[in-house]
Amino acid sequence: MRNASHGTVRNVNLHGGLGVHVRGVSHIFDGLQVIQQADLQVEPGGFLAIVGDSGGGKTTLLRLIGGLLAPTRGEIVFTASGEMNAGESARGTSSQSTQAVAQTSSISFCFQEGRLLPWRNVLDNVALPLELNGVLAHERRAAAREMLAKMQLSDSENKMPAQLSGGMRMRVAMARALVTRPKLLLLDEPFGALDEVTRLALDEELRQLWLDTGTTAILVTHSIQEAVSLAQQVVVMRGKPGRTMQSIAIDLPKDAAHRTNMQFVSLCERVYQQMTLQSKEVARVAQ
Ligand SMILES: Nc1ncnc2c1ncn2[C@@H]1O[C@H](COP(=O)(O)OP(=O)(O)OP(=O)(O)O)[C@@H](O)[C@H]1O
Ligand SMILES: [Mg+2]
Repeated sequence: MRNASHGTVRNVNLHGGLGVHVRGVSHIFDGLQVIQQADLQVEPGGFLAIVGDSGGGKTTLLRLIGGLLAPTRGEIVFTASGEMNAGESARGTSSQSTQAVAQTSSISFCFQEGRLLPWRNVLDNVALPLELNGVLAHERRAAAREMLAKMQLSDSENKMPAQLSGGMRMRVAMARALVTRPKLLLLDEPFGALDEVTRLALDEELRQLWLDTGTTAILVTHSIQEAVSLAQQVVVMRGKPGRTMQSIAIDLPKDAAHRTNMQFVSLCERVYQQMTLQSKEVARVAQ
């Protein structure tokens, strides 16, 4: 695998994010293998995007990383965040320890539909994860207001989800995902249902939040352009069962204009080539 560095804790004091190393992970649901030998690695504070075939196991892989599922085979190893000392890497080599890392080191999910609670207003939706962690009411509201201000949603804190546009709902969902200051943010097609202009604006907000918070981000998306414009590396998952292909490093200046530059276009082309390989070739390029 490219860029692999087993067990290292690079950049540990520079970032507040968790490093994630998925090693030879396979998953079987009720006798059906859906992931075969997946490998990927993201450094603390890094941004990795996953694209690929529908039904190829992307959501399942995200759920495995988040500790919502236990891998049938393989291991998922977390390396230390900025708050830990270099020697104290958090290792989750079984589902149990993955779940422990998920609980203690704050892994947040953000899904396409936003999944806001319709009976709670915006402020109380954003404060929910803190409420579940037993944070006092005035403290969690202050933290939620801070996040809403970052997302330019302060004026909407008393609105109910049904009163919001799709883009606003996703910004509330992002605020909720970030209110716990997660060390790992898992995003599953968060902007897939939005129009292109809103999506571009939210991509930019996500990038800014990632830079501001230092969290590690793993984004599943169906958009090659979104993957290439946001991530530092893109992993393509192909086939059934889904396999990870060699990761593509994205080395681009992260400015708003780059979607039109030739380097951006040629990186999109490389991702596209992996996404359209014939199945015989998939086996060759898979890690
Ligand atoms: N809880 C489950 N129980 C049984 N099978 C499941 C479960 N969740 C997913 N699957 C199966 O696993 C396979 C991979 O599904 P997954 O949702 O991970 O794919 P995906 O890459 O996210 O697809 P999409 O791009 O359409 O979102 C599919 O065949 C799906 O039917
Ligand atoms: Mg999915």
